[in-house]
Parts: sequence; structure tokens; C-alpha cells
Amino acid sequence: MAVTSKPSTSTSLRHETMLIDGAWTDGKAREAITVLNPGNRKPIASVPRGTAEDIDTAVKAATAAFPAWMRVPPRDRGRILTRIADVIEARVEELAKIIAEETGNAIKTQARPEAKGTAEIFRYFGGLASELKGETIPFGEHVLSYTRREPIGVVGAIIPWNAPVLLGSLKIAPALCAGNTLVLKAAEDAPLGILWVARICQEFLPKGVLNVITGYGPEAGAALSAHPGVRKLSFTGSTEVGKLVMKAASERIVPVSLELGGKSPSIVYPDANEDWVVDGIIAAMRFTRQSQSCTAGSRLFLHADIFDDFLNKLAAKASKLKIGNPLDEETDMGAIINEKQFRKVCGYVEDGLKQPGATLRFGGLPPKDGPLSEGFFAIPTLFAHDANDWRLAKEEIFGPVLVAIKWTDEQEAIRMANQTHYGLAGYVWTKDIGRALRTAHAIEAGWVQINQGLGQSPGHSYGGVKQSGIGREFSLEGMLDSFTIKKNVTINLATP
Ligand code: NAI
Ligand code: MG
Repeated sequence: MAVTSKPSTSTSLRHETMLIDGAWTDGKAREAITVLNPGNRKPIASVPRGTAEDIDTAVKAATAAFPAWMRVPPRDRGRILTRIADVIEARVEELAKIIAEETGNAIKTQARPEAKGTAEIFRYFGGLASELKGETIPFGEHVLSYTRREPIGVVGAIIPWNAPVLLGSLKIAPALCAGNTLVLKAAEDAPLGILWVARICQEFLPKGVLNVITGYGPEAGAALSAHPGVRKLSFTGSTEVGKLVMKAASERIVPVSLELGGKSPSIVYPDANEDWVVDGIIAAMRFTRQSQSCTAGSRLFLHADIFDDFLNKLAAKASKLKIGNPLDEETDMGAIINEKQFRKVCGYVEDGLKQPGATLRFGGLPPKDGPLSEGFFAIPTLFAHDANDWRLAKEEIFGPVLVAIKWTDEQEAIRMANQTHYGLAGYVWTKDIGRALRTAHAIEAGWVQINQGLGQSPGHSYGGVKQSGIGREFSLEGMLDSFTIKKNVTINLATP
């Protein structure tokens, strides 16, 4: 959670600075942002409230660094990324603690896997440097026509707080591997982990290749989206802000990659009324990340024959999740990022309680006293309702509130699953392979999993359809599409 503070009030607090042109600095920031631990609402550190001027300085530094960086042989750029991966891997516990503290995500279930995943991202993209290949086009013997994969220039990246280090690294590693330079705007609620990663990166990178600005979205973020020196925008966050970024990009015809929200369906067939599916639904819903995940399977379409029995099993398992201090190794589920999001999640629960036709199957409003009331802790909650078009079934809650909807006809289930303006992920649960694949193909989403509810892995082209986003990241194809330009060169061989 972030609150604005005067620098004088934060003198006893650890203060982290921004990375601009190879230097660690407060830039032109006259105020600081205090980063809080959402598990106990206590301050952890402060960071500068970066300004439009800081963005401008950073973009200029990235512009100046670009010509030399793009000429570094790709394999040497890749080797740098691999060395960064080695250092992150060796210090993964340090990073895991920072992530848990600033995001409220439990160290055991989320923060440590995120820290390890970050090293994997740098290693994966480091190994792809020599895959920045072009092709030759067979126009005939009189001509040689070939393509080159060239970097775009200065990339402006804006990241959210829910998996800030992993999502930040997913911009840094492919953008730099491809020969771009980067200005990254960290999320105001969770900037510390990505600054820690940037510090390691900076040990290996020429100045200006990577710049990290801290600050608020409408100030630093909007300035970055609108900066004329930025040649490519890559944004992960809400659909609402994604539209603003795209609008800013349209002014200068700058390519954008948008990874936005979701309201992903889980379709459970009658043959899947089993414990492993219940575990899978808990995983897909990302309960152990307080469901603050764009891929959360937050609409549960359960076949009528198993509806009540399955929900009883789910209630029993969900109630066993241990909620509490994110840094405690026993904790399964930590805290919601900030007060605003916490209130928003509580508002959805209150709405569900009042909704005619909806029944609360487990969970509800968070406890008002006791240890959990010291932080922004929400509890796993499920509402059952026959309707698919009420508010909780339509909007991205970004909290541990699941809605269950009954179905009997497969076509009807698929129709309801697709009845959303989002299209990021989907989950299908059945042992009948034909039915599983048929359903997976019919779901309008960028990524459908069958009989599992896992997170993304490097190598898989990840991204959404509809208002869940544009473009793909996370893979070789993602790097080529999102962070390079394909240039064609054609030579007349008949000329003496
Ligand atoms: P947000 O979209 O406002 O924030 C994401 C990033 O965008 C942050 O770095 C923020 O500073 C920046 N930003 C905000 N306004 C901006 C602007 N006008 N121009 C440029 N950058 C701007 O998300 P927020 O407010 O933290 O969360 C609201 C909702 O968004 C959540 O409840 C959830 O539904 C969704 N969300 C989705 C995420 C995903 O992974 N797809 C991640 C975070 C939030
Ligand atoms: Mg916002």
C-alpha cells in the first residue's frame, strides 16, 4: 500500500531511490511515497514520487543508450541476462522477503515462487538471444530478399503490484534481449522488489539501458505513455488504464502490448466431482494470492448433478487455508494489497449478501477484530447464484470472492462462459478428452487449461483476447512480436 509523505516525515524510514541513467537518485521528486506492509499496515520504506520531468530525463537517457546497446551482439546481451539470473538465483530468499513484505503475498505459496520465477525469466530470455533471426524470401535467383529482427527503440513499460517483480522482469528481460532500452514505471504499492532487481541488473548493464521510475499512475505513468521519445508501450494492469495507455499510443501510432483484467471461467463436468478437482479449483482461483490475479478462475460453472456435493467439498478445503502474516512459513494466504482494494473486495461481498437469489456458501466479510483485522485480510468466499449476469459474476473483483453458477447443457455452459467482455484464461475439468478439447476450443480466451490450474511458465505465449488485452509476452514469439520490428531488405542481384 502506498501513501504520499513529505520527505521529512520519512527520515527514519529506509529510503530507496530511482534508477535514471545509471545513477540512483530522487530525481526531481519533492515528495516521497511510503510503502506499507499490507499484513500489518506498517511502513517498510519510502520511494520518490517521480514526476513527468523524471520520466523525461529517463527517456532521454534510454534514447542516448540505445544506439550502442542495439549494437551489442545479441549473444552478449543474452549472456548479461544469464548472469543477472545467476545473481538473483543466489539471493532468491532476500527477494522473496521483499516481495512478501510489500505485496502481502504469502512467502511460502507466492513470494518465494515469484522470486524463483524471476531468475527463470532472465535465464530463459538470456538463452533466446540468438533466436532473433530473420528469414529469406524466395523471389527468384535475380533477387535476395531477407528480413531482420531489429529492436524498436525506447520501450515504456508500466507494471502492477500483484506480481510486480515477475511482471516487471517479463518486460525487462525480453525488451533488453531484443536490443531495446527501457523506462519502467513501477507500481506505487509495490516498487521495492523490482528496484532490488534493477540494482542487480545495473551491475551488468551500461548506463541508461534500464531506467526505473517510481511514482503514481496519473503522474509518472501517464507521462511515460505520452512521451514522444517512447517507441513502444507495454502495460500490465487494469482494463481501464489499459485503454488510456492505448489512447496515448494512438496519438503517435506507437505499438502497444496490453495485459489486462479477466473474469475467467472454470467449467466442471459431472465426472469431475473429485478431490483433485477441488484442489485445482482452489489453485485456479488463486486463493493463495488472495485471488489478485488476472488469470483467476473466478466464475465456477458447476454441473447441476454435482453442484451441492462439490461446493461442500470446496468449502471444507477452502476453510483449511491458513490466513495471516505473509512472512510466516505456515501461512497459505496473505493480505490484500491496500485499503482501497480491500474496501472494494468487501463492497462486493456486501453486495453479494444483499443480492436476491444469491446464497453465501462459505466465507463472507472479513473478521472485524482479532489478528486478521490488523492487516487487509479477506477470507475465501463463495456465492452461488443461478444467474450469470449479476454484478459479482460480471466484474473483476480481484479478491477471494468466487461465484458458482449451475448448468445442465454443455452449450449453455459455454455460452455463459463466453458471456463476458474479458478473455484471458479458462479452465475445463473432465476426464472425457473429446469433451475437454471441444470445450477448450470453444472458450474465448488466450489460454485454456484442462484439469489443472497452474500459473504461466516461460515459453508459453501468454495474453488475452477481447478486453483482456492485445499481444503476447512470456515466450520467444512474444519477444519477437512485442519487442522487435521486422524489417525487409531486398537486393537486386542482376545489377553489376
Ligand atoms: P491500475 O491499472 O490503476 O495500475 C497498474 C499500473 O498502472 C500502476 O503502475 C499504476 O501506477 C499505473 N497507472 C495508473 N493510472 C495510470 C495512468 N493514467 N496512466 C499510466 N499508468 C497508470 O490498477 P489498480 O488501480 O492498482 O487496480 C485496480 C484494478 O485493476 C484491480 O482491482 C484489478 O481488477 C485490476 N488489475 C489487474 C491487473 C492484472 O494483472 N491484469 C493488475 C492490477 C490490477
Ligand atoms: Mg488504478
